[in-house]
Amino acid sequence: MLSTSIVGLILLVVSTLAKDNLQLAYEWREIDFKYPNAEQRWSAIEKGTFKPANVLPFGMEIYRHRLFLTLPRWRDGVPATLAYLDLNDNSTNMPALTPFPSWEAHSLLEPEPELVSPFRIRADRCGRLWVLDSRIAGVLEQSKLYGTAQLLVYDLHNDNLLRRHILPESQVKQGSFFANLAVEDADCENTYAYAGDLGSPGLVVYSWRQHESWRVHHHYFHPDPMAGNFSINGIEFQWDDGLYGLALSKAETNGFSTLYFHPLCSTMEFSVNTSVLRNKTLATSMDIYREFKVLGSRGVNTQAGAEFLDQESGVLFYSLPNLNEVACWKTSNKEYNHNTQSRVFVSNDKLIFPSDIKVDQEHRLWVLSNQLQSYIYDELYPGSINFRIFKASVEEAIADTGCSSTRKIIPDIINRLDDILNTKTTSGAAAETISSLLILLVLSFVL
Ligand SMILES: *[C@@H]1O[C@H](CO)[C@@H](O)[C@H](O)[C@H]1NC(C)=O
Ligand SMILES: *[C@@H]1O[C@H](CO)[C@@H](O)[C@H](O)[C@H]1NC(C)=O
Ligand SMILES: *[C@@H]1O[C@H](CO)[C@@H](O)[C@H](O)[C@H]1NC(C)=O
Ligand SMILES: *[C@@H]1O[C@H](CO)[C@@H](O)[C@H](O)[C@H]1NC(C)=O
Repeated sequence: MLSTSIVGLILLVVSTLAKDNLQLAYEWREIDFKYPNAEQRWSAIEKGTFKPANVLPFGMEIYRHRLFLTLPRWRDGVPATLAYLDLNDNSTNMPALTPFPSWEAHSLLEPEPELVSPFRIRADRCGRLWVLDSRIAGVLEQSKLYGTAQLLVYDLHNDNLLRRHILPESQVKQGSFFANLAVEDADCENTYAYAGDLGSPGLVVYSWRQHESWRVHHHYFHPDPMAGNFSINGIEFQWDDGLYGLALSKAETNGFSTLYFHPLCSTMEFSVNTSVLRNKTLATSMDIYREFKVLGSRGVNTQAGAEFLDQESGVLFYSLPNLNEVACWKTSNKEYNHNTQSRVFVSNDKLIFPSDIKVDQEHRLWVLSNQLQSYIYDELYPGSINFRIFKASVEEAIADTGCSSTRKIIPDIINRLDDILNTKTTSGAAAETISSLLILLVLSFVL
């Protein structure tokens, strides 16, 4: 048995050395918009075209001085489904949002609205904003389909719509839901977008140069029936979402990248060479199954949501909704398992449902949390802070974790001690593990 003083000592070490590397940048009780004037805002609230309680930020992107948010139309009363805030405006940390590209683009009264309900967006290095619009509104009330999902591409120099690609019927299946997006932008003329179908698991590849898309099938896109249970902040539920997290490595000299991916209901990570996906003949043939790789499993309870790869450091960041955590894995690491993952940030009160993760061109990591499980299964309390955005430089974010190239071993052991103490402090086996870790800890201080 461990004496309480040793446990106390460990807890002290854990609390002083376990780092929370991200800082709060923005927070909101409810999302508000910059209407042309106060009368129009009040009239929108009176008419019910703006119901603040129904507006939830889900996807995020940062380009130059703007931070964009998607506000999916899960319920009605979302007056604009894509909007931004100005990073230069530091007058408030609860800024009202400006609709992008205009108020008109969000009107559902048009026969074919420009924007219906996008989930993810991506600003490429060529100054284009890619928007994946599911075109399904009201999924939590009365679903209304405005057509098959579409990819919209805006020019961020003038906010003009450059391209609109509506997915052909043949690439959309019963139950399809397109939420996640990755953009391979090493070549601005020969850019590819990858749109994940979480509902009828599949991947649609879009070629900017060819103005054309095709659909790829693979079993690794499917959810694991054993990984559908979620328990977040006291709310338990079961999901069956397939292909979800998508992240692209830096292009090799031949121009191809590795696409890392995982289903939401899974603890596994997979990868595929984009040369395979970009070759339409191969990508749509039966032979493609040979080309996909299994990286490994992160372990129990590690269903991952959004992911993003920082191309400079080669670090893959991802969210763990069940654990209120953002974690990382260094892609140069050949091993992919529980022990090769590192914790970047965890908070049981401030990081409830980490929904999106991005690294911007200034090498800053951004994380959005939105309490999605309460929004869907309960309700958000307008009196409390519901949405938060955290940031840090990538360097700060991975400092003292296994993802840092100037890695120190001590904090990683601390991370693991923390896990054990959180889950099974009382069991004899855990006590043994703690003792051996403690020895390691002492050793590593000595060395
Ligand atoms: C906002 O930032 C500018 C420039 O960084 C600074 O001069 C100004 O004092 C800041 N304002 C507030 C309210 O912090
Ligand atoms: C999922 O949750 C249900 C209800 O609590 C439980 O019966 C089931 O065993 C769980 N499944 C797994 C794979 O843990
Ligand atoms: C991806 O495929 C291309 C073309 O076949 C090849 O040259 C490259 O080495 C592959 N990359 C990886 C990481 O396997
Ligand atoms: C695409 O894949 C097909 C089938 O594997 C192959 O025959 C063809 O050479 C590939 N095309 C290119 C441009 O690599």
